Amino acid sequence: MGITLPAFTPMEDSMFLTLCGKALDSRSPRSILHDTTADEIVRKLDYDCEQFRLSTSLIINIAHRSKKLDEVVERFIERHPDAVVLDLGVGLDSRMVRVASPSTVDWYDVDFPNVVAARKLLIPQSLKAHSIDVDLTDPDWLDQVPIDRPAVIVADGLLAFLTQDDMIALLDRLTSHFPTGEIAFNGYTRFAIWAAKHYHGTQSVADLIESPGFDDPREPERWNPKLKLVREILLTREPEVAEFPFALREFTRLAAHSTWWSRKGTTVLQYEFVGDG
Ligand SMILES: C[S@@+](CC[C@H](N)C(=O)[O-])C[C@H]1O[C@@H](n2cnc3c(N)ncnc32)[C@H](O)[C@@H]1O
Repeated sequence: MGITLPAFTPMEDSMFLTLCGKALDSRSPRSILHDTTADEIVRKLDYDCEQFRLSTSLIINIAHRSKKLDEVVERFIERHPDAVVLDLGVGLDSRMVRVASPSTVDWYDVDFPNVVAARKLLIPQSLKAHSIDVDLTDPDWLDQVPIDRPAVIVADGLLAFLTQDDMIALLDRLTSHFPTGEIAFNGYTRFAIWAAKHYHGTQSVADLIESPGFDDPREPERWNPKLKLVREILLTREPEVAEFPFALREFTRLAAHSTWWSRKGTTVLQYEFVGDG
């Protein structure tokens, strides 16, 4: 099919790593995320996911953390049917397709202009979906988002690419904009950052990583007193582990006994805030 995509920067290109992770997970009989849209996009583009040589554990990890972020969004919009959802660094992800939401919820998908242009070509756009084509470090991009509604904000695979100062400034802008809300993202410990820079499966993004990572999930509370940690989700202790292939499942169950060890892998961090909006 003749789809001409913009020429992506290496940063924008990172979205294909996670897109492929989700597409490959969806092809597994024990899929964690069931993201068939990701697979449709990959097939539409005839994209070569083999180039990443993704291991089973990385594929599962990408799908698993996305599922946890989907759940955060689902629970929030159950309680706040008037919510706005912001997906920061959305790439070619289609969370809005995975998460059922009432027509009263508005979605804001945020990424660089090239990525937003590609999304318009590849992902059916619903009336509730709004795209914001910006660099998230731009201080003014939130002007396009209503200030008077509760917000659930997710960032899936984004924060490793922001400097700590940019991340703190972004959290500050978000918590100042809305009256109330939740922010959830996959956390990167210092070890996870080190591993992402050295692990063969993430070599395509290794040079783009800017964050030093942080080990204490309460660290963002110290950066921004409006943030309160709701939950540190250790993926090792989540029910989906039962679906993992045997060796990975047993290893993960062993790791689950130790918080220290579990934090060597991926965590999803969920915060609430009462803002100034
Ligand atoms: C690894 S991809 C993750 C994509 C998607 N969230 C997913 O889970 O499939 C990281 C995304 O963050 C976007 N990104 C990184 N830095 C950004 C910035 N400063 N402003 C806007 N988007 C950014 C990239 O363009 C890319 O789409």
